[in-house]
Amino acid sequence: MEAPDGGRAVSKDKDDIRPGQSAELLKELHILTREGKLNQDSRRKLKQVYHLHQFIEKLLLELPAAPEHPSIVDHGAGKSYLGFILYDLFLKPRGVGQVYGVETRPELVERSRQLAARLGFDRMSFLHLSAADAVRSDSLPAEVDMVTALHACDTATDDAIEFGLARRARFMVLVPCCQAEVAACLRQSKALQLSRTPLAELWRHPLHTRELGSQVTNVLRCLYLEACGYQVTVTELVGWEHSLKNELILARRVGHGKRSAAERLRQLLSEFGLDALASSRFSRLPPA
Ligand SMILES: C[S@@+](CC[C@H](N)C(=O)[O-])C[C@H]1O[C@@H](n2cnc3c(N)ncnc32)[C@H](O)[C@@H]1O
Repeated sequence: MEAPDGGRAVSKDKDDIRPGQSAELLKELHILTREGKLNQDSRRKLKQVYHLHQFIEKLLLELPAAPEHPSIVDHGAGKSYLGFILYDLFLKPRGVGQVYGVETRPELVERSRQLAARLGFDRMSFLHLSAADAVRSDSLPAEVDMVTALHACDTATDDAIEFGLARRARFMVLVPCCQAEVAACLRQSKALQLSRTPLAELWRHPLHTRELGSQVTNVLRCLYLEACGYQVTVTELVGWEHSLKNELILARRVGHGKRSAAERLRQLLSEFGLDALASSRFSRLPPA
């Protein structure tokens, strides 16, 4: 990395900094040091966000070229690395679109608001809301182009999916974090399931309960999206050396829900003793 030039970041390493990126933004996000050198601690985050940007850019390019597109709602935004980088690389140069960050920690919301104001990123808004409350919020558009959730804690990814379904998101880009809800349900019915099926061996040990809970959670999420009219792709975000929470779920609205996915989802809920989740988490499933 070289020192920034005229407010733009310049790099010898194309993987680190993109041409034309705002050096001030990268410093504020602690990706660059005050001297304009790459901060090694932030490199991992930067790598994840760049990878995600590659996937997202392709999708955003499919949207109509109009000032109101893209509308992007980022759930569990944290310091809004993703939102700021998307704005800087995609929305700002085109002069279009709006990014909304949804975050429960008020100090992060305030910090992001101040940073956006300082940088003149005036088509960014930050809402002090939980992802669950975002579903009912009037401060967010009735329809959105994209929902993102990068490592949004626990069930915030499920709430982001619910938001995306309610607001007819064209795309959802989800990198789930740990989720405790399914593992808790598996734990609760463990004794009963062990007497019923040898498959319950898969989650007898506490470590396996957690791991399988995580796997089942994401499988159910994918089926739910398919049942509700989305085409789903699951891939890796970056190499496992960069992040353990590395599963990327890309969903594209195609309009027609898959009946077979809804059936499979119900069967899995029943098989794993998770029927209680049908009404709380998967309430939009078409009737059996
Ligand atoms: C692990 S951080 C990830 C932040 C950011 N997406 C990133 O990748 O840098 C998760 C963020 O989600 C926020 N969060 C947790 N539960 C949430 C909820 N239910 N609704 C909205 N935000 C939530 C936390 O406060 C935290 O800032």
